[in-house]
Amino acid sequence: MAKDLSPKNILVTGGCGFIGSNFVHYVVKNHPETHVTVLDALTYAGNIENIAGLPEDRVEFVHGNICDADLLDKIVPGHDAIVHYAAESHNDNSIADPEPFLRTNVEGTYRLLEAARKYDVRYHHISTDEVYGDLALDDPARFTEETPYHPSSPYSSTKAASDLLVRAWVRTFGVQATISNCSNNYGPYQHVEKFIPRQITNILTGVRPKLYGDGLNVRDWIHTDDHSSAVWTILTRGRIGETYLIGADGERNNLTVLRDILEMMGKDPDDFDWVKDRPGHDRRYAIDSTKLRTELGWTPEHTDFREGLEHTIRWYEENRAWWEPVKAKTEARYKAQGQ
Ligand code: NAD
Ligand code: TYD
Repeated sequence: MAKDLSPKNILVTGGCGFIGSNFVHYVVKNHPETHVTVLDALTYAGNIENIAGLPEDRVEFVHGNICDADLLDKIVPGHDAIVHYAAESHNDNSIADPEPFLRTNVEGTYRLLEAARKYDVRYHHISTDEVYGDLALDDPARFTEETPYHPSSPYSSTKAASDLLVRAWVRTFGVQATISNCSNNYGPYQHVEKFIPRQITNILTGVRPKLYGDGLNVRDWIHTDDHSSAVWTILTRGRIGETYLIGADGERNNLTVLRDILEMMGKDPDDFDWVKDRPGHDRRYAIDSTKLRTELGWTPEHTDFREGLEHTIRWYEENRAWWEPVKAKTEARYKAQGQ
């Protein structure tokens, strides 16, 4: 059993992306004793604006790539933990071009693990429930830490590969690491390529929302702030070498979520287009987070999905300057794929 960690100086990779930046805000707000270094390559998914305005004495930004071992040699020493969010994160992109997923998700994780080993730094690995593949709609089961890996897409297979690297580095080299696999996040700062922001910003730009396949695929939604509190809990109190699943009992099918968005934005419930399905589209994800709740005492706070969705819609309405510059390009990419 590791002793509790009180991190003073953490390195957050991917801290300019959706979930990473929400975690940086969470740490600044809730843990005044902790300094954050953000390492981010600012790919199409990273935006420095996501961490703008945070106090300079609390958050330092380093522009760079997690695959750059020389850079890691310079910046990792002096940190007492690495929290690794950086990734290529979108399934549809991984189908169009898997290569960057191999580089960032697999090689990048390898480089960070080597740095954690070399400088004896605590490492927390952010992963996804998608490594477990999918469940049938009528299956009473949910994913647990014991569920076998069965990834479907280039994205989820590279995340699964990265998780396995972490396990090997723990066992073979004694790296002090933990892993968390979380369900689908929603909230502010999420790129407009993802399901919820895509539909909200479509409506705001006069484009009809797009639903894949039969719309009955189920995702287990969690507010990104609950993901952040869970990661902090695992980072500071989790058992080394362990995996924890993070979820907030938020199963809903895509059609229901889309109809909620349409209703909240004053639109007709049928005001959307059915488009062709994603190849290999996972049917259902569902998390059993009993281990995290019972062993570490974590509970989610934002469990009213409709309330969280209302706030998220308001955020996109009020922050048009944040997403408008990338909206047209994102939709052009989808159009080329017939979606
Ligand atoms: P995102 O695409 O919004 O952000 C990724 C960030 O990583 C960006 O800021 C990008 O610039 C940066 N990045 C990418 N490649 C990099 C590289 N080679 N070097 C340095 N920085 C790089 O992703 P997200 O949705 O915030 O996901 C963050 C993490 O959470 C990922 O590991 C993802 O697998 C995991 N996750 C996501 C979800 C979800 O619902 N989005 C659910 C569970 C787990
Ligand atoms: P997404 O946000 O891409 O997350 P993930 O693939 O990691 O679950 O998609 C969430 C769900 O929404 C998934 O079942 C695919 C579906 N979807 C649509 O129906 N329309 C869309 O325009 C997008 C982007 C996704």
